[in-house]
Amino acid sequence: MILLVGGEKGGAGKSCMAQNIAVHITQKHNANVLMVDCDPQRTTSDWIQARNEDPNLPTINCIQLYGKIRNDLLGLDQRFDYVIVDCGGQDNLAMRAAMSVATYVLLPLRPKRRDLKTLPHMEDMLSTCKMVNPKMVAAVVITQCPSLPNQYKRILEAKEVVESFGLRALNAVTFSRNIYDDSEEQGSSVLEIEPDGKAAIEIRAICDELLAIPPENSYELN
Ligand SMILES: Nc1ncnc2c1ncn2[C@@H]1O[C@H](COP(=O)(O)OP(=O)(O)OP(=O)(O)O)[C@@H](O)[C@H]1O
Ligand SMILES: [Mg+2]
Repeated sequence: MILLVGGEKGGAGKSCMAQNIAVHITQKHNANVLMVDCDPQRTTSDWIQARNEDPNLPTINCIQLYGKIRNDLLGLDQRFDYVIVDCGGQDNLAMRAAMSVATYVLLPLRPKRRDLKTLPHMEDMLSTCKMVNPKMVAAVVITQCPSLPNQYKRILEAKEVVESFGLRALNAVTFSRNIYDDSEEQGSSVLEIEPDGKAAIEIRAICDELLAIPPENSYELN
């Protein structure tokens, strides 16, 4: 199964989400997971390198691919249980290629205007890719949410904006927590640093909600 974590907005949390999802799937399903890093910044490749230096952390495989990666992904899908693609905003071609074969596309966005402004173009790209990949399930996850109760409205408003573009917004979100940044530094994940912590619960909720959506019932795009 191919799961793409994508989107155009820098810093929205794509790499962080892809890495934590990879750890969750490895742990929960004892699965053979491959990460594909399509970002020339090599964020996920660097994370894997740091991870492989720590013998206490289970190994996750990672390769870098750029550009027209559709056939590469289809081949890798045969060899791995889960192929998790981290697409930086820079490689638009790789993102579209991954969307054309992915079963799940997860788009992290912060509840901020500049992130939400990328939605019209993302919706356009998704609906084009859906013509060749009708089974694809696409969802937006709101990330780095402010935890102050009086800011809660912002999260709900962001979800409404997502839905106004005919896209699905997951109920599960991530709140802004230092543990996301701290775990990355060590090649680790929030699930490994604090397995019962709030961030770990967020990641498990996001994965479980996304993967529970059956491909054949994918949301109709306008
Ligand atoms: N929920 C969160 N709370 C706090 N910090 C977070 C959270 N999610 C991600 N971050 C941090 O935000 C920063 C940007 O995240 P990340 O690198 O995953 O974004 P990205 O979308 O992959 O960016 P790019 O477009 O540059 O690839 C990182 O330092 C990461 O640790
Ligand atoms: Mg990234």
